[in-house]
Amino acid sequence: MPMTTQEVHEEEKRDKRLDPTGRESNNGQENSAVHENGVGVQSGVSAGTPIVRYDQVFKSFGDVDVLKGINLAVAPGEKLAIIGPSGCGKTTMIRMLMTLEKPTSGMIEVDGEPLWHKEVKGRLVQADEKHLRQMRNKIGMVFQQYNLFPHMKILRNVTEAPIHVLGLSKKEAEERAMTMLEKVGLADKVDAYPAQLSGGQQQRVAIARALVMQPKVMLFDEVTAALDPELVGEVLEVIKDIASDGETAMMIITHEMDFARDVADRVVFLDNGVIAEQGSPQEVLENPQSERLQSFLTRFRMSQS
Ligand SMILES: Nc1ncnc2c1ncn2[C@@H]1O[C@H](COP(=O)(O)OP(=O)(O)OP(=O)(O)O)[C@@H](O)[C@H]1O
Ligand SMILES: [Mg+2]
Repeated sequence: MPMTTQEVHEEEKRDKRLDPTGRESNNGQENSAVHENGVGVQSGVSAGTPIVRYDQVFKSFGDVDVLKGINLAVAPGEKLAIIGPSGCGKTTMIRMLMTLEKPTSGMIEVDGEPLWHKEVKGRLVQADEKHLRQMRNKIGMVFQQYNLFPHMKILRNVTEAPIHVLGLSKKEAEERAMTMLEKVGLADKVDAYPAQLSGGQQQRVAIARALVMQPKVMLFDEVTAALDPELVGEVLEVIKDIASDGETAMMIITHEMDFARDVADRVVFLDNGVIAEQGSPQEVLENPQSERLQSFLTRFRMSQS
């Protein structure tokens, strides 16, 4: 019999190396203000196994406890916005999904399968690199820094991973890449080099490069933060467009509250290492329950005006 999630926790509790925090009993949900529609399946979002699930996830760096019991289920196709003060662990939360950081304890599942664990002879053990690689293919990520290959033309930037990771033929990869470049409005730039594109255009290529892998979930980490203000709109429009026609779930870290309101099914406020509040964009952004969220939004609005 495979281990249950509870058994995995018990096992990890016994392993001091994996669990320096000793805080498994702190359930992040307990101190979370949840609006009525804040949990579970939102309208227009398909039901079933969550595409992403965090179960009592803790993450510490040395003595610093950053995430202290994240519990979150993202439904297939759901668009989730993640907001919160600088340093609260937003990037860490999604880097763990991308397997760039390992949780200190707890379980993360992607598409119904444990991400950092693997079933061997009916027991869950730490996953090996092969498992992590397979799981990573279900996830696409776009960062603040787009990091395109400077010596490759735009088309090749987008076809590299489908050819080398998915094993598609050059022709198949180019067809897929063209569809994605059209989607982000850059079909006419296939023969350009990254340096010949604006920051907004390069970020749109980075989005196409992630989408071409047909991930089940797309992660966006403040993708417009490094852009000149006049280029922000075009990138947000592309993301909105993908959100409206896609079944791909999205987890979007953003400081663009209007954008979050437009695109998200649910907004999650991360604070003090837990999900402190969540609900529909209207509920969270217009009717914040906690003082912490109220003051975060007030500070944020002041910095905008
Ligand atoms: N590799 C690391 N080593 C040590 N500490 C780290 C590391 N990565 C993140 N941290 C710390 O973890 C905390 C959370 O960082 P994180 O980048 O996740 O915050 P954030 O919410 O994304 O912040 P911001 O809004 O500024 O991007 C910070 O205190 C940060 O200094
Ligand atoms: Mg960050």
